[in-house]
Amino acid sequence: MLGKSTSAILVTGATGFIGRHVVQRLLLAERRVVILSRHRGGLTGVQRLAEVLGDLSRRSLDVVEGDLAHPDLIAGKLARVGATIDTVIHCAGDPSFLVGERESVRRAQVMGPVALLKMLRPGGLRCWVHVSTAFVCGRREGTIYESETDLGQQFHNGYERLKLELEIRLKQTCGELGVDLRILRPSIVVGGAPSTPGGVPSNLFLMLLRLLIALSRSAGARHTPVRIQGRPDARFNIVPVEYVAAAIERLSYEPEAAGETIHVVAKYPPTQQRLLEMMSARLDLHNLHLVNSTETLRNRSPLEARVARMLSPYRDYLQQDVHFDDSVARRLLARHPVAAPMIDGKALERFVKLAGLSEKKSVPGPRPWSNDSLDLRSAYVGRAKFR
Ligand SMILES: NC(=O)c1ccc[n+]([C@@H]2O[C@H](COP(=O)([O-])OP(=O)(O)OC[C@H]3O[C@@H](n4cnc5c(N)ncnc54)[C@H](OP(=O)(O)O)[C@@H]3O)[C@@H](O)[C@H]2O)c1
Repeated sequence: MLGKSTSAILVTGATGFIGRHVVQRLLLAERRVVILSRHRGGLTGVQRLAEVLGDLSRRSLDVVEGDLAHPDLIAGKLARVGATIDTVIHCAGDPSFLVGERESVRRAQVMGPVALLKMLRPGGLRCWVHVSTAFVCGRREGTIYESETDLGQQFHNGYERLKLELEIRLKQTCGELGVDLRILRPSIVVGGAPSTPGGVPSNLFLMLLRLLIALSRSAGARHTPVRIQGRPDARFNIVPVEYVAAAIERLSYEPEAAGETIHVVAKYPPTQQRLLEMMSARLDLHNLHLVNSTETLRNRSPLEARVARMLSPYRDYLQQDVHFDDSVARRLLARHPVAAPMIDGKALERFVKLAGLSEKKSVPGPRPWSNDSLDLRSAYVGRAKFR
């Protein structure tokens, strides 16, 4: 429990992929943390956090139950700790592309956070650290600077549009209330992810890796040609969750980060072609091909069809080539020091290990082996085989 005079950080989205890593770092750094968490699936916010954080949940932690779709119901619950909250790290959101832009979605994703900000300001809220996305750039190509916001861009989906709308509304409200707003924009976050909407891209990436690992372990299948649709020369903008969490934690108190918008991305991301080459070399698979096409491939094998289905939610992103300039991030994080990660052979090694270790239950969607003519199931399931 928090004493009245102790300043605390309120974290939203702590049961999510990014939020749980952020909270772990804050607690290990002995920061005082208040969590806003929903009651869901018959479990209270406290019970859900105990599941997510394990022993760490016994540290200096207060849990306030609340849903950002109903901010009016949160106010009363915040009464006890509201005046202790100095900083908010807002990790909550629904990163599913399918959420659309219905009024109920806008209420939870845009109006809810703004209402929370207004609610906490009178108690002394000083800083709002906002986890947005680098893809507020929408369908733009080329170099995207951290200072760029609304340039009339087209979007891939309502998710991106709502994220940009929230950035704009927070800027306006923080400006009016005199709150220091720090906007952090990760690209596509990868790592050991839960089966939450935000974990989907990472889990799909690891699922693809597992499929390739299984292929490499199957003597009869390792020379099977596999064509993957993409854009070979486009950059593959993934960033490890550990870096994202470290950046969020450090930038929440770095004085020079006040008022900044910051890309949280990998350093020199590889092109899709380069990444595939690294995978081919690591797994000793020499018949993997990136095909620059959005059309359905002719004479697709069942395995190729399976890969295409796995990647289909990200087809548009795989056709986009963007470079997220992160000069502000590098300048600020060099002071701590937190180096931007490289997606190189070492990183790939970690992903391969993670793909082997990650729980099968965290993998969304259809299993990659079903209906395949190749029998990859045993290699896919057997964890020990990947070590
Ligand atoms: N994952 C990525 O690759 C990625 C990349 C760039 C940016 N981002 C951004 O980072 C943020 C966190 O993403 P994530 O990957 O951690 O997502 P996630 O794993 O799906 O977690 C989302 C979190 O938000 C909470 N939440 C959702 N709606 C809520 C509501 N109405 N009231 C209170 N809490 C609510 C969820 O709580 P419940 O557990 O109760 O559902 C969960 O804790 C999002 O804003 C996302 O846009 C993510």
